[in-house]
Amino acid sequence: MIASAAAEAIDERGRFMIALAGGSTPEKTYSLLADQSTSFPIDWKRCRLFFGDERDVPSDDPRSNFGMAKRCLIDKVPVAAEDVYPMVTKSGDPASAAAGYAAVLANAFGSSEPPRFDVIMLGVGDDGHCASLFPESSSLDITDRWVVSNPPGVLPPPVERVSLTFPAINAARQVLFLVAGERKAEAVQDIFECDAPVSRRPSAGVRPVDGIAVWLLDKGAACRLADHG
Ligand code: 6PG
Repeated sequence: MIASAAAEAIDERGRFMIALAGGSTPEKTYSLLADQSTSFPIDWKRCRLFFGDERDVPSDDPRSNFGMAKRCLIDKVPVAAEDVYPMVTKSGDPASAAAGYAAVLANAFGSSEPPRFDVIMLGVGDDGHCASLFPESSSLDITDRWVVSNPPGVLPPPVERVSLTFPAINAARQVLFLVAGERKAEAVQDIFECDAPVSRRPSAGVRPVDGIAVWLLDKGAACRLADHG
């Protein structure tokens, strides 16, 4: 799906703008994209890699989303260093990191409108958060900014975050959720079958305005859905 979205974006617009997810679920996807580039050919020279959220830690910190993507994907494919945009370049000041990233997006997308990513990859926390948009957070209500800094959520790691906001996420052509493990099943059921409020299950707030949201669930994450097959 990522490779075909990349081919379409490059064919139609000359480049592929993707925001990578953090956490641990995407590690295998990134490794597959990197290691099996013959099965999923991607013109990495035409790709621009961004991030959906980041922990306010140095990039060599094991909790860094950039560090995970670098290890699993970026160091293994011929993407140009200047085409990779980490969210946090100097930890310790998440608010300025958020403001700086908004400027990076404005420059890369050349518009004051929300950046329209070709693909935004997201994971889902056990509490139903996505990116670093945590339950009951004031960031859930932002309508006029594309990047925000956030205090830690209840789930580890307990560090400040930088995150895309819903206006940026919902401007995407395609949002791709990768959700694995039974720990996510209750949040997934709440979102799909219980009409959970966004304040309680923030991933319910991902409804692309002019795009699609695709949820890829493994059996564990889907096990509480009525028709999970
Ligand atoms: C983060 C992630 C976060 C993640 C979910 C799921 O910075 O923590 O971006 O939104 O996608 O918490 O994490 P796992 O994939 O590790 O379950």
